[in-house]
Parts: sequence; structure tokens; C-alpha cells
Amino acid sequence: MAERVQSEIRKKLIDAFTKNETEYLSGQHLADIAGCTRTAVWKHIEGLRKEGFQFEAVRRRGYKIVSIPDNMSADKITLGLNTEFLGRNLHYHDSVESTQKIAYKLAYDNAEEGTVVIAEEQIAGRGRMDRKWHSPKYTGIWMSIILRPKIPIPKAPQLTLITAVGVVQAIEEVTGLLPEIKWPNDILINGKKITGILTELQAESDRINSIIIGIGINVNTGIEDFPEDIRTIASSLSIESGKIIDREILIRTILEKLEKLYLLYLEKGFFPIKLMWESYAISIGKQITARTLTGEIKGKAIGITEDGVLLIEDPTGEIHNIYSADIQI
Ligand code: BTN
Repeated sequence: MAERVQSEIRKKLIDAFTKNETEYLSGQHLADIAGCTRTAVWKHIEGLRKEGFQFEAVRRRGYKIVSIPDNMSADKITLGLNTEFLGRNLHYHDSVESTQKIAYKLAYDNAEEGTVVIAEEQIAGRGRMDRKWHSPKYTGIWMSIILRPKIPIPKAPQLTLITAVGVVQAIEEVTGLLPEIKWPNDILINGKKITGILTELQAESDRINSIIIGIGINVNTGIEDFPEDIRTIASSLSIESGKIIDREILIRTILEKLEKLYLLYLEKGFFPIKLMWESYAISIGKQITARTLTGEIKGKAIGITEDGVLLIEDPTGEIHNIYSADIQI
């Protein structure tokens, strides 16, 4: 409760400064706006300075905001977050090797379901199939979520598909862009990859302990931020929309959408999610090539199974179940 009051005071102060960017605001005026004492205003301004806000202070005139940090903060992310459990326990870091690694350890140490780890930068971000995931500072959303569903192990890939639907819905709502899903977990806009999802399991013989869902989204990444070899196949939300996107709003929206879908899944099973997933999928109904570890399969993608397995019909009419592959359309 005390923390929430504190966040609300900070929010009121930030609002006042950002609406009066060119003016000095006196300590008393700020205290009236925020509903606290002048000493409390001073303490909150010091706190905001530590979070990266810069202020100019002039005797008898007051404070003026000089710059707002590019970075996010746990406070700013959870402010106004409308979820029951997803993101309620949020670990925010400036720089980490990989949020997956931190979430994995937290899950092992019994962190509650819905715990989220977010970092501004990953220096050893991991992708699928042991690839690197490029995660430059302040440009994207690099986050891992701990879930503990009571489902059989073979059903775990369904969580990747649920996450993809939640992320697509959130991107659509926040940016107005129309993302599409490429099986199993790539989110593309105009044919370029914007988001990757990596799902890892902690399981004991026949029981899931936790599922760590890693989400990487190129949000405000400039083309020069991408390594040269992926510039033709990757993009970001800001490149595609021509606007800077508020990462904190996007994170909140993802957590809200994902929690709703997850609860729907626990109550009604995978079928409603499967229908949503198929409505966003680009590969279904198209001729595709699936590169698996054992070779290539060419044919028409005819759908996914209840377990999230991709079905390809080859020219002889044989149906192949694809569990893991890179897809080319
Ligand atoms: C892919 O290969 O498409 C999956 C990429 C997943 C990247 C995210 S970023 C947050 C989390 N931490 C990691 O190291 N990887 C995942």
C-alpha cells in the first residue's frame, strides 16, 4: 500500500513536469499537486534522479525537468497494470546475460507463478536452436515469464502458441500494426521478424514444475542496431510504424492479454486458442518448406494439432507431423 501511494505521488510529479516542460515548478506547487509535503517532493525528486530523470533546481523558482530517461523502471511498468498475478512480482534489471537464466533460477527457488524478469539489455540473449538473440540496450522488450500450469509435459508447446497470440493482440492494440505468426513462434510484420518466443521447461519425470517463456521484441530498434547479416530479415515496431513505441505500455498490454488467454486455456482447453492462433498464422494453406534436423519436407501446411504440432501434406498426399523446424514460405 505504502509503495502504491509512493508510485502515485511520483506519477503526479512526472505528469506535472511533462505538462510544463519549459517552466520551473515551485516545491509548494508540486506538493499541492501531489498531495504531499515539500520535504516529500524533494525526496521523490531525488528518487526520480536515481531512476535517470534529470532536473534543474533554481532557488526561489523551483524545479524544471531537463530530460526523461530512456530506460524503464519496475515502478513505471507496474503502474496501472491490470492483472491478477502476471507481472505482480517483477524483477527489473539494467543489464543481464539472459533473462531466461535469471527466471530459471527464480523458478528453481520457488518463485510464484506469474513472476516476470525484464532487462534493458542482454549480453548473451538466447534464441531457438542455440542461436544468439541480439538484445541492444533500451531498444526492445527482453522478458521471461514463469508459469506453473498443471498440464502433461507433451502439452507444453501449447504455451508458446498462447504467448504468440497474446503478443500479436497486444502489438495490434498498441501500434495499430497487423502482425502475423509464422509457426511455431515467430511474429512477423511485412514479412520481417519482429518477435521471437523461447519456451523452456523445468520438469520432473512426468510433471511440469515450471515453464519459462522468453519473449524478445524489437520495439524501437533502428536498422543500424541490427547485425548486418539479419538486416534484410528482421525489423522493429518503430521501423514498421514510423513511431517510437512506449515499451512500458506494450509490456503491460502483453501481460494483460496473456493472463486472459492463459486463464481461458486453463478453463476451456486449447481449442479456442487454436482458432485464434490459426487466424493470425501466415503459413496455413500455403506451400512451405520445413527444415528439420533430419532433412527437408516440402508441402502444404494444413493446420496445427491440439498439441501445437504443424501438419504438412506432401505432393504424394502423405501427412507429416512437424515438431521442430525452420519454416520457409
Ligand atoms: C527465437 O529464436 O526466435 C526466440 C528468441 C527469444 C528471445 C528472448 S529475449 C528474452 C528471453 N531471454 C533470452 O535469452 N531469450 C529470450
